[in-house]
Amino acid sequence: MATKHIAVLVGSLRRESYNRKMAKALMAMQPSSLQLEIVEIGQLPIYNQDLDENPPREWIEFREKVKTYDGVLFVTPEYNRSVPGVLKNAIDVGSRPYGKSVWEGKPAAVMSVSPGAIGGFGANHHLRQSLVFLNMPILQQPEAYVGGANKLFNERGEISQDSTREFLNTFLRTYASWVERFPEAGQR
Ligand SMILES: Cc1cc2nc3c(=O)[nH]c(=O)nc-3n(C[C@H](O)[C@H](O)[C@H](O)COP(=O)(O)O)c2cc1C
Repeated sequence: MATKHIAVLVGSLRRESYNRKMAKALMAMQPSSLQLEIVEIGQLPIYNQDLDENPPREWIEFREKVKTYDGVLFVTPEYNRSVPGVLKNAIDVGSRPYGKSVWEGKPAAVMSVSPGAIGGFGANHHLRQSLVFLNMPILQQPEAYVGGANKLFNERGEISQDSTREFLNTFLRTYASWVERFPEAGQR
């Protein structure tokens, strides 16, 4: 089975971001069938339709890069019960020009990570709303609302709790099988 290359989009720019730590923890435990890579989004100028005729270099590079991946894994915090602006901006940038969305058909998974008890449920589902419109087949189960993120990582950024590691393993393996169902996604 060929390794599937997965773009990981992290919805936080914070230096000590729990979501980035989670993305790295997932990378450290990825099955051999997946190759996860963080694709940065903080450099993208805010989307403005006026710029579509002569798009910023960062938009072009981002779009070209995302196109090459077989799937997209979103790891995001919740801001005010919704998706952080930086992540929504990346989604908007990738979705244009109209008819040439780089998200089209790419199998996705969503994980929300928060210190709060409800694990970013609101962001997770607001994000799913956009992904439905963008025609990204989204992994349904297991849902991944990770709460208590402030107590999850040790000083090396590792997750020590066995039950959480077990869950993350299941999540990754199920996503790996999901991605296999869409063999053409990397050529779009
Ligand atoms: C503008 C803002 C809004 C926030 N709103 C929420 C929220 O709705 N729900 C929640 O669980 N946490 C909320 N938080 C707290 C974040 O979960 C917390 O800052 C978390 O550490 C952000 O993720 P990160 O560690 O990956 O940067 C908010 C934080 C900020 C800065």
